[in-house]
Amino acid sequence: MTEKNTLTVRDNRSGEEYEVEITDGTVRATDFGKIGKTDDSPGLAVYDPGFTNTASTRSAVTYIDGDKGILEYRGYPIEQLAENSTYLEVAYLLVNGELPNQKQHEQWVHDITFHTFVHENLKSSMQGFRYDAHPMGQLMSSVGALSTFYPEARNIKDPEVRMAQVVRLIAKMPTLGAWSFRHAQGKPYVYPDNDLSYTENFLSMLFKMSERKYDADPRLVKALEVLFILHADHEQNCSTNAVRSVGSSQVDPYSAVSAGIAALYGPLHGGANEAVLRMLKRIKTKDNVPAFIEGVKNGEEKLMGFGHRVYKNFDPRATIIKKAVDDVFEVTGVNPLLEVAQELEKIALNDEYFVKRKLYPNVDFYSGLIYEALQFPPEMFTVLFAIPRTSGWLAQWLELVDDPEQKIARPKQIYTGGRQLDFTPASQRWA
Ligand SMILES: CC(C)(COP(=O)(O)OP(=O)(O)OC[C@H]1O[C@@H](n2cnc3c(N)ncnc32)[C@H](O)[C@@H]1OP(=O)(O)O)[C@@H](O)C(=O)NCCC(=O)NCCS
Repeated sequence: MTEKNTLTVRDNRSGEEYEVEITDGTVRATDFGKIGKTDDSPGLAVYDPGFTNTASTRSAVTYIDGDKGILEYRGYPIEQLAENSTYLEVAYLLVNGELPNQKQHEQWVHDITFHTFVHENLKSSMQGFRYDAHPMGQLMSSVGALSTFYPEARNIKDPEVRMAQVVRLIAKMPTLGAWSFRHAQGKPYVYPDNDLSYTENFLSMLFKMSERKYDADPRLVKALEVLFILHADHEQNCSTNAVRSVGSSQVDPYSAVSAGIAALYGPLHGGANEAVLRMLKRIKTKDNVPAFIEGVKNGEEKLMGFGHRVYKNFDPRATIIKKAVDDVFEVTGVNPLLEVAQELEKIALNDEYFVKRKLYPNVDFYSGLIYEALQFPPEMFTVLFAIPRTSGWLAQWLELVDDPEQKIARPKQIYTGGRQLDFTPASQRWA
């Protein structure tokens, strides 16, 4: 039998057969639109809430193999990048598609470093937030507001203009993120220190008080670099899809990234590590772990930080984070909750319930412990995700803008409401 890259579909309503092309393991939804299409009736559509089996784009940014636990940025394994690269080098790789040579790297680091300041009026606008404003809400609206400071950003067809906004966004995210934290704490905002590296400067803007120069422990800086690298991109997740969807209307990148931050704000996306921490605090001691696990197995609740929609054998980011935990605790002292987390992991990995369902620790299982050790309150955890994810969002946005196959995002629906009802004016309905 000769192999053909097509699918034969027989419509049993009419007996008609259709041949549908298979390309890269996918069929085109528009080809199904030809099935059963007549002048009176639209053709077949594909129903896929949450896009669980729909490819929305071709992309060369990030590769994931969930069964094998593989994550690669532009083809480079996450393990190698986390071990030997820096966040800014990874950001360059994501945005430009290849690693920088020395000159390109120096220029990139220089450009990012010298765009860290934000307009004073944006600072004033942040100062207008209520004293207890959530840092993610502050970040989302401040990034959206950046579009008003750079109106030229609307010119998305110009590659130079595009790249200027990419640099600005990556550079200003730590400033806005740190200020949202300082604001919520009632502390004065700290201006960027351009003598420092990207992550050192972020720590300085977060924690500096009256000292002349903030001196971060290099082990904490390295741990934060690793966390930033791990969170830089994760292909077509909810927030990336939001950036692409909003970006497909050809709006400026500040507005599109602000939509990504909004998506990340939701507890199903960026908030899981906070839930892990709450769970560990509730379990409190190692001795309470067996009873908690029994409760999970009886369906009373979920073991937060376990399981993943894509990774079914292990989450490669979790393995790397576990190593970073040790480095951080060497500086900050061990958090007693680590013992609870380790016991949970030990019991769950050997329990049939979890083994059978392929439930393993994910990236969030340990990241909350690190963030707490670094003295971040839980509301800041998602901000710490949004800052590095900005380079991934922008890499995906740049790809979208240049992709001739992309159109404005506009899904179909299956209409379930009433039809052709007669409207009676309120004066008669209420008489
Ligand atoms: C991540 C997650 C949403 C993936 O969900 P999913 O791919 O849709 O998997 P399902 O919800 O279909 O789970 C399959 C089975 O495992 C169980 N399961 C999944 N995650 C579980 C968990 N964390 N604890 C206990 N049981 C879990 C489900 O109850 C289901 O059991 P069943 O077959 O007896 O009904 C899910 O594992 C989860 O909620 N994890 C906890 C939250 C979390 O850590 N999120 C961060 C992700 S990075």
